[in-house]
Amino acid sequence: MKGKKKMSNLIQFENNKELKISHFLTISQLTSDEVHFLIEDASKMKKLQKSGKPHAYLKGKVLGMIFEKASTRTRVSFEIGMLQLGGNAIFLSSKDLQLGRGETIEDTAKVLSRYVDGLMIRTFQHELIEDFAQHATVPVINGLTDMHHPTQVLADLLTIYEYKGKLNGLKMCFVGDANNNMCHSLIEGAAKVGMNISIACPKGYEPNKAIVSNAQKDAKKFGSSIEIGENPQIMIQDADVVVTDVFTSMGQENETKKRLTDFKAYQVNEMLCKYAKDDFIFLHCLPAHREEEVAGSIIDGEHSVVLDEAENRLHAQKAILRALMQ
Ligand code: CP
Ligand code: NVA
Repeated sequence: MKGKKKMSNLIQFENNKELKISHFLTISQLTSDEVHFLIEDASKMKKLQKSGKPHAYLKGKVLGMIFEKASTRTRVSFEIGMLQLGGNAIFLSSKDLQLGRGETIEDTAKVLSRYVDGLMIRTFQHELIEDFAQHATVPVINGLTDMHHPTQVLADLLTIYEYKGKLNGLKMCFVGDANNNMCHSLIEGAAKVGMNISIACPKGYEPNKAIVSNAQKDAKKFGSSIEIGENPQIMIQDADVVVTDVFTSMGQENETKKRLTDFKAYQVNEMLCKYAKDDFIFLHCLPAHREEEVAGSIIDGEHSVVLDEAENRLHAQKAILRALMQ
């Protein structure tokens, strides 16, 4: 069913070395060429690492990582990524920082910028990271906010590209809570690469309107569509890529019971996936709840590429770190 395809048609930058991004907060802030460049560079980082060739592009550099929410993949992949690039990463729990005792974002950003070469933050309100980036004098990377999860989506695009050999013109279907960080960044990512995205979600869980209308401009430019509907069987029709995420994101734990009821008809299972293309691939950023948003037979089945997707966090983030800190 699934099989990696030869990569052929990424847009190349005329001068790859020229890519310089000041912060990495959302996918929408990048141009389409920058998104393609980062995917291409992530693929190069992957080849270098697999072949055991040295690639210490960030020798001696240090990334500070602030976590206000739990993490397995983001923390470990950034830490290992920095080590493989010849640098170092330090983990800073907001509970232990003076930030947790009321020190201002402004002071924290300015002070930490004096010690490290880049900062990665996982937090709640997206405005907080924007504020942080405004005051930091080193590049800031969004390691997840309530609204966006851009490093994950770059890894997702790399994974889709590896399996399908292209991005443009494919159909991705997101099923579940569309008003969350993953769906928002997927909408922005799909639009940047000309991938059609259809979203199946219950009433009241639609994606943020401003994010959708902004992404519509890119979608129009690159000839793709963004569709939102309530019926998963209709939305998933002929999808090349099927994606879901937890029904209850971090910070929404007190809504768990209500959400389990509201999302009852939105499980990605074998019955639903019959409507997707025969060779669809299944993505989930993880952590997953089997038999809630996804059936075990799908996430552990032949269409699932979730482990490659998780591994690709490492390679995609190394491309991001280079673009920001090299
Ligand atoms: N997908 C993801 O961001 O995983 P973690 O929460 O474990 O970092
Ligand atoms: N939407 C999920 C993603 C976890 C990586 C959350 O925010 O909890």
